[in-house]
Amino acid sequence: MIRVAIIGCGVIGRIHARAIAEHPEFEVVAAVDAVPANSLPGLETYPTLPDALRAREIDLVVICTPSGTHLDLARQAVAAGKHVVIEKPLDVDVARAAEFAGLAAQAAGAGQMITVISQHRFDPASAAVARAVHGGRFGKPTSAVASVAWWRDQDYYDSGDWRGTWQLDGGGALMNQGVHTADLLCWFLGRPVEVQASARLLAHERVEVEDTVAATVVFESGAIAVLLATTAAYPGLTARIQVHGTEGSAIIDNDRLEYFHAKHSAEDHRPGGVTGGAVTGNQAEAEVGLAHTPAGPRGDDDFVLGHRRQYDDVAHAVSTGARPGVTIGDALLSLAFVRAVYVSAALGERILVADVLEGKYRDVRLDVRAE
Ligand SMILES: NC(=O)c1ccc[n+]([C@@H]2O[C@H](COP(=O)([O-])OP(=O)(O)OC[C@H]3O[C@@H](n4cnc5c(N)ncnc54)[C@H](O)[C@@H]3O)[C@@H](O)[C@H]2O)c1
Repeated sequence: MIRVAIIGCGVIGRIHARAIAEHPEFEVVAAVDAVPANSLPGLETYPTLPDALRAREIDLVVICTPSGTHLDLARQAVAAGKHVVIEKPLDVDVARAAEFAGLAAQAAGAGQMITVISQHRFDPASAAVARAVHGGRFGKPTSAVASVAWWRDQDYYDSGDWRGTWQLDGGGALMNQGVHTADLLCWFLGRPVEVQASARLLAHERVEVEDTVAATVVFESGAIAVLLATTAAYPGLTARIQVHGTEGSAIIDNDRLEYFHAKHSAEDHRPGGVTGGAVTGNQAEAEVGLAHTPAGPRGDDDFVLGHRRQYDDVAHAVSTGARPGVTIGDALLSLAFVRAVYVSAALGERILVADVLEGKYRDVRLDVRAE
């Protein structure tokens, strides 16, 4: 049994507790929260991580606190020699995250498993698309269209002082809600190299960050993507990614494989390609599309299932010493990508992700125009 302490007993801390309770290889033995009233059912709750470490034998520390606090806590856990799971995003500050990546590499060398939650990488639909793209079945990747068209009401932003702040949320619709989709784009298409974006605050008040942002992105391979993230699309639609290549395309909608076609099926003789249909001509992916993810709105059970899938990966990495499915390097790249979008929107310029990674824009003020 891997003995777990969960830090942060809020919305996502409770999902982790449920996902771990269902998992035969983990046991939650302690909760940590800075607010005494916040705890997890049936668990002793400690005010700080050192208090929990003194009181209990702990193998794995899971960090579920506001985004801007992730790495201070992760450093404490790494220094104590523990394995660490960090909720997304890795942090809100690229320089701090880059420094942590160095520390994490050393700790991994000493046998510590350190990973970041990006549960959608473990959805059967995303895994099928990644396999197809990386295995060359879509030919040369050419483009993608990604959108997270969600709705969050004002009460959501008012529900915690940290929400909608640059310091602790690190951004709005893209950093908080859309970072999963940004991460999947990087996973499917590789390194984003340049970004041009616009961001606005259109449907909320008392927040510093954007609720709507759109960007065009060029990847190292030359592939081009369009990305939209918004929490101002009432009543809340889906998170959707289309990936296209010279020999195949796929659409994932709300974690479900809605369309998949790779060349060399019986229908491919048509010169204009195959249009319409759903998951055509590829039986294995048709099964992924139909069987694994129910259609409809996502709820707490979907969260638990997604996290539970990533905990399978965590268990494997801890017990075998294998690299986890999501590395600190992966999460750092996604963070730099999101920051590049914000810098571009603030300066009205095309921004190189490499410059963001090197700390060039660390002190730029990321003001968002409200309209
Ligand atoms: N993977 C996902 O799909 C997903 C979904 C929701 C949230 N998240 C991420 O999880 C994190 C938390 O989000 P949330 O919605 O659960 O927030 P929340 O406000 O509901 O909960 C945060 C909890 O952390 C506690 N806390 C704050 N600072 C602390 C500290 N220094 N030490 C100990 N406890 C502290 C708070 O008291 C609170 O109970 C964020 O980084 C968010 O981006 C991820």
